[in-house]
Amino acid sequence: MNEPTPGGSKSKAAKKRAQASLTRLQKSNPGLKLDLNEYEKTILASVIPPDEIGVTFEDIGGLDSIIDDLQESVILPLTVPELFNQYGPLLQAPKGVLLYGPPGCGKTMIAKALAAKSQANFISIRMSTIMDKWYGESNKLVDAIFSLAGKIQPCIVFIDEIDSFFRERSSSDHELTAMLKAEFMTLWDGLSSNGRILVLGATNRPDDIDGAFMRRMPKRFAVTLPNAEQRAKILEKVLDGLDYDFEISELVDITEGLSGSDLKELCRNAAVNSTREFIRKNVRAGNDLETMENIKLKPLNIQDFFDNSTPSDKLLKKLATVKVDPVD
Ligand SMILES: Nc1ncnc2c1ncn2[C@@H]1O[C@H](COP(=O)(O)OP(=O)(O)OP(=O)(O)O)[C@@H](O)[C@H]1O
Ligand SMILES: [Mg+2]
Repeated sequence: MNEPTPGGSKSKAAKKRAQASLTRLQKSNPGLKLDLNEYEKTILASVIPPDEIGVTFEDIGGLDSIIDDLQESVILPLTVPELFNQYGPLLQAPKGVLLYGPPGCGKTMIAKALAAKSQANFISIRMSTIMDKWYGESNKLVDAIFSLAGKIQPCIVFIDEIDSFFRERSSSDHELTAMLKAEFMTLWDGLSSNGRILVLGATNRPDDIDGAFMRRMPKRFAVTLPNAEQRAKILEKVLDGLDYDFEISELVDITEGLSGSDLKELCRNAAVNSTREFIRKNVRAGNDLETMENIKLKPLNIQDFFDNSTPSDKLLKKLATVKVDPVD
C-alpha cells in the first residue's frame, strides 16, 4: 500500500501517485468534480477505487461468519441506505467497525474485500505513519481524511494500527496527541448519519485503545489465529487451481499456531522448492531451460513443504517438530 506524503513536501512520486488516483477516481465516477486542498491531495494517494482493490471475499478462507455479519451490518447499510432509514436513527450503519487480532490473519484482506463488495472507495491510512512521520501536520491530515472521504463517498476509511494514536512518544507530546484524538473524534461524530462513510479500524493491540474510541466502534470482530477447520479453508484458497498430490488435512495437522499469512508463506516456499528442484535437475542433465518448450512442473507434494530453502524461523521451528516420510 502506498503511503501518502505530507502536504508540505511536494515529493514528485507522491504527486504522481495522487494524480494517478485522481484520474482513476474520475474514470470510475464520471461527473465527479473534486476541488481538493494540498492535504486532501496527499491523502488521495492512498485512495483505491473499488474496481481496483483486487481482493474479494472469495479469496478469504475460514472467516465466513465474520463476512456474513459484515454483509448484513455494514455492506447493506452502505449500498441500500433506504433500507436502514425506515426506523429513523434506530438502525443505521455503524460509523465504526474494529477488526482486531494477531498479525497476518486477514484483517486487511477483510477491509479491502469489504470496500470492493460495497463498491466504496477505499482510503487506507496507517496511523503510525501519520503519528510518526508528520507529527506537526497530523491534524491537517486527519481533517483531510474526513473531508476527502465526504467528497468521494461511499467511502471506507481504513485506519490500520489505530492503536498508534495512543502510543505517546514523550511527555511533551501529550498535548498534541490529546488534541489530535479530540479532533479525530469530533470529525468522526460529525459524519452525517445518512453519509455513506465508514471508519474501519484495525489493530493487533485492542487493549491499548481508549474507551472513547472503542465506543465509536461498536461493531468489533476478533480475527484470530485460524483453527484446524479454518486452516483447511485457507490452504484450499491458497492452493486453489494448483496441482498437488497430497491431502490438505496432512498440512492442517502440522500447522497449528500458524497464521493465514504463514500458511501462504509455507505454500510459496513449497513452490520455490519444487521449482528449484526442477531447475537443478535440468541443469544437471545439461538441458537449456531458456529454449525448453512446454515447461511442466510436477504437482506439489508434501515433501516440498519440508525441503529447506528460506522459510521463516517460525515455520522452520514448527516444521522441525514434525516428521514426514520422504516420498522417494
Ligand atoms: N483468512 C485468510 N484467507 C486467505 N489468505 C489469508 C488469510 N489470512 C491471511 N491471509 C494471507 O496473509 C496475507 C496477510 O493478511 P492480512 O494483511 O489481511 O493480515 P492482517 O491481519 O491485516 O495482518 P497485520 O495485523 O499484520 O496487518 C494476505 O495477503 C493473505 O495472502
Ligand atoms: Mg493488516
